[in-house]
Amino acid sequence: MDAERAHDFGLRMISAGFVSSSPPVSQLLNVRAYGQTLPHPIGLAAGFDKNGIALEGLYNLGFSHVEVGTVTPLPQPGNERPRMWRYTEEDALVNKLGFNSHGAVQVAKNLERVDTPIIYGINIGKNKQTPNEEAWRDYGGAAQALRDYGHYFVVNVSSPNTPGLRALQATDDLKRILDAVLAKIDKPLYAKVSPDQDDEDLVAVAEVAASTGIAGIIATNTTIAHSHGEGGLSGKPLRDRASEACRTIRQAMPGSLEVIGVGGIFSGHDLRERLQAGAAACQIYTSFVYRGPPAVRDILNEYIGGG
Ligand code: FNR
Repeated sequence: MDAERAHDFGLRMISAGFVSSSPPVSQLLNVRAYGQTLPHPIGLAAGFDKNGIALEGLYNLGFSHVEVGTVTPLPQPGNERPRMWRYTEEDALVNKLGFNSHGAVQVAKNLERVDTPIIYGINIGKNKQTPNEEAWRDYGGAAQALRDYGHYFVVNVSSPNTPGLRALQATDDLKRILDAVLAKIDKPLYAKVSPDQDDEDLVAVAEVAASTGIAGIIATNTTIAHSHGEGGLSGKPLRDRASEACRTIRQAMPGSLEVIGVGGIFSGHDLRERLQAGAAACQIYTSFVYRGPPAVRDILNEYIGGG
């Protein structure tokens, strides 16, 4: 089956409540992130439930938190299909979805129906048509429309699939966007960064972001450093770079700035390594696709067992 059809089918099954899995429960697994105490460190990364339609089902799969989005202010279809591929032998995915989104107004309606105690964040982006000089208006507008929902917000300036988006990590643009969003919300804000910049640039981004008063950095998004054509690569080949990015930001910045670790976490060992690199909490996407509904439970059991 085409990878995107498989994803849509899986999301419908989860949303209908057909799958569940119980993670281990122990105070030893608790972590503090997003201004909350999470039962354990593993959340679902952005891009899986882009429109916030499956939060109850995802809660029943044991995620400690879910990042909805990326949500754009206006609805948009994203890039033409096919736009998602599996590279099974590498435990990797490549996607160039390009922010397919139902738009902030519809997502707000979806989130209004949420009746589950799940901790979730809202990851926002800009519409493809919006020029970078105007991007701050898009981010501010999406934040305004969604301000009553979620426990935290994320500014996504690191997807490789919206032309020019990653240039918004340049310091002046980033500051303007973060200020525009902070003016609209009263929840912790995070900036999600790309793994495809050297450590010096990563730290520069983190420093500017921190100067606006945001709560943390989500490291990292997908990488374009691969040989499978266009699009962002996720999964195992991203693990070491994402881990390094997490450690670099952690070491350069004051402890009050949280770092959330994402990218290539497949096992209990990977989870331990990312927490040791300084992540306050972690997120997974590709390992959930490959390991299926028991992913959170199994990774936590491996972690507890020292595996
Ligand atoms: C993503 N990711 C993503 N990130 C984001 O901030 N907004 C988005 O809309 C998406 N969309 C998306 C779609 C698909 C199909 C994939 C595979 C990934 C990136 C994701 O949140 C995460 O940062 C990376 O996938 C790295 O983590 P994993 O997959 O290696 O655990």
